[in-house]
Amino acid sequence: MIRRFRIDEGGVHMIRTLIAGNWKMYKTIPEAVDFAERLKEELSTLPEGRDVAIAPTFTALHAVSGIIGGSLIKLCAQNLHEAAEGAFTGEISAAMICDAGCSHVIIGHSERRTLFGETDASVNRKMQSALAAGLKPIMCIGETLEQRECGETFSVIERQVKAGLHDLGAGDMAVVTIAYEPVWAIGTGKTATPEQAQEIHAFVRGIVTAVYGSDVAATLPIIYGGSVNPGNISAIMAQPDVNGALVGGASLDVDKFVKIVRY
Ligand code: PGA
Repeated sequence: MIRRFRIDEGGVHMIRTLIAGNWKMYKTIPEAVDFAERLKEELSTLPEGRDVAIAPTFTALHAVSGIIGGSLIKLCAQNLHEAAEGAFTGEISAAMICDAGCSHVIIGHSERRTLFGETDASVNRKMQSALAAGLKPIMCIGETLEQRECGETFSVIERQVKAGLHDLGAGDMAVVTIAYEPVWAIGTGKTATPEQAQEIHAFVRGIVTAVYGSDVAATLPIIYGGSVNPGNISAIMAQPDVNGALVGGASLDVDKFVKIVRY
């Protein structure tokens, strides 16, 4: 298997693997707390080079932070508003997300794009806002079934990557993760084949190489999402350009999520 390495002052490092659970609009605070307690027990150790994050709803972030603080599990928000503060009823800023204990934030999930009108431009503004607050953004990209069937996959992915990362510097890229989530594979039980995932991941790395150079591209985590489960995670992770997974449905069950984390 091909592995990518980064050389810095401390020596040679592989790209770390990130397995993140996106809970979407599921779990009350007591349910989230119970899950976090069980997960913390299960994940008192992790394989070398592996990171785990969970993304509860906004209302559960603070309570979950109190449980997983000091553990190996990182806390992630599912969205943020691009402004630092202001009269934006119902919205949450990057600083508030940090305040609640998060290190990571998901940006531009396809449900946000299709159901809530997010665009490449707003995704970019959210990326800037997250980075300015010191959050690590997980930027989601992915084509719809219609776009795939029309042969537009590569142009859609290229546009989403370039527009989403617009004006970000190489230093910013050190904390960015890209999640490739084909929209047709999200919540449908249809997974991209490992080869389909690899094809797009390699394409994304190529775009990042062209824009930022090979050093940045060779250390960029590109994770896959879309019906990941304990049965398909190993084959997906065996692909050289797949550096982790963004897991929806299967992340709501502790046992399934732990199996995915320990693939
Ligand atoms: P799924 O969702 O695993 O339920 O397909 C993935 C996601 O939306 O991030």
